[in-house]
Amino acid sequence: MKLDYGSGSQPKQGYLTSDFCGISQYDYMIQDYKVIGAQDGMFETIHCRNVIHHIPKEDLPILVNEFKRLLKKGGRLIISEPRKEFHKQNLILDIIWYRFLKNETKIKLPTEYVDYKKYLSDFNYIASHDEFNNEIIVFQK
Ligand SMILES: C[S@@+](CC[C@H](N)C(=O)[O-])C[C@H]1O[C@@H](n2cnc3c(N)ncnc32)[C@H](O)[C@@H]1O
Repeated sequence: MKLDYGSGSQPKQGYLTSDFCGISQYDYMIQDYKVIGAQDGMFETIHCRNVIHHIPKEDLPILVNEFKRLLKKGGRLIISEPRKEFHKQNLILDIIWYRFLKNETKIKLPTEYVDYKKYLSDFNYIASHDEFNNEIIVFQK
């Protein structure tokens, strides 16, 4: 099984959906970074696009532990995040979109750029490539 973590309104095709807010009907709700009702090791792949920059850095270890819990051994974690040079531009777009257009205050918008990769030292790096302003990295548990 495959999970799109923080899938929002544009889930990745072929993946189960999950999020903590929004109007979509998700396969799983997320609460305090935990995917409620998902069993340990039940996913061979987790996809997580444009979510991590919404997580304060002090909470990243909680999120990473949840990825570890959910993935089976050898499972893949695919993270797509704006590259550092696009952080400010992305933040401005997030502020406009979530705060002014959507009036959405639950989603956090940390101002500091965080190199999330250092929190994934227990994972093996497999490959990376760029897609527009984002870097997509595949890790393996
Ligand atoms: C920019 S959208 C990306 C949505 C989708 N992954 C995509 O690429 O189109 C960010 C998503 O992260 C979710 N998100 C933000 N903070 C979260 C949290 N603490 N727990 C779970 N999801 C979160 C938001 O609800 C939103 O759906």
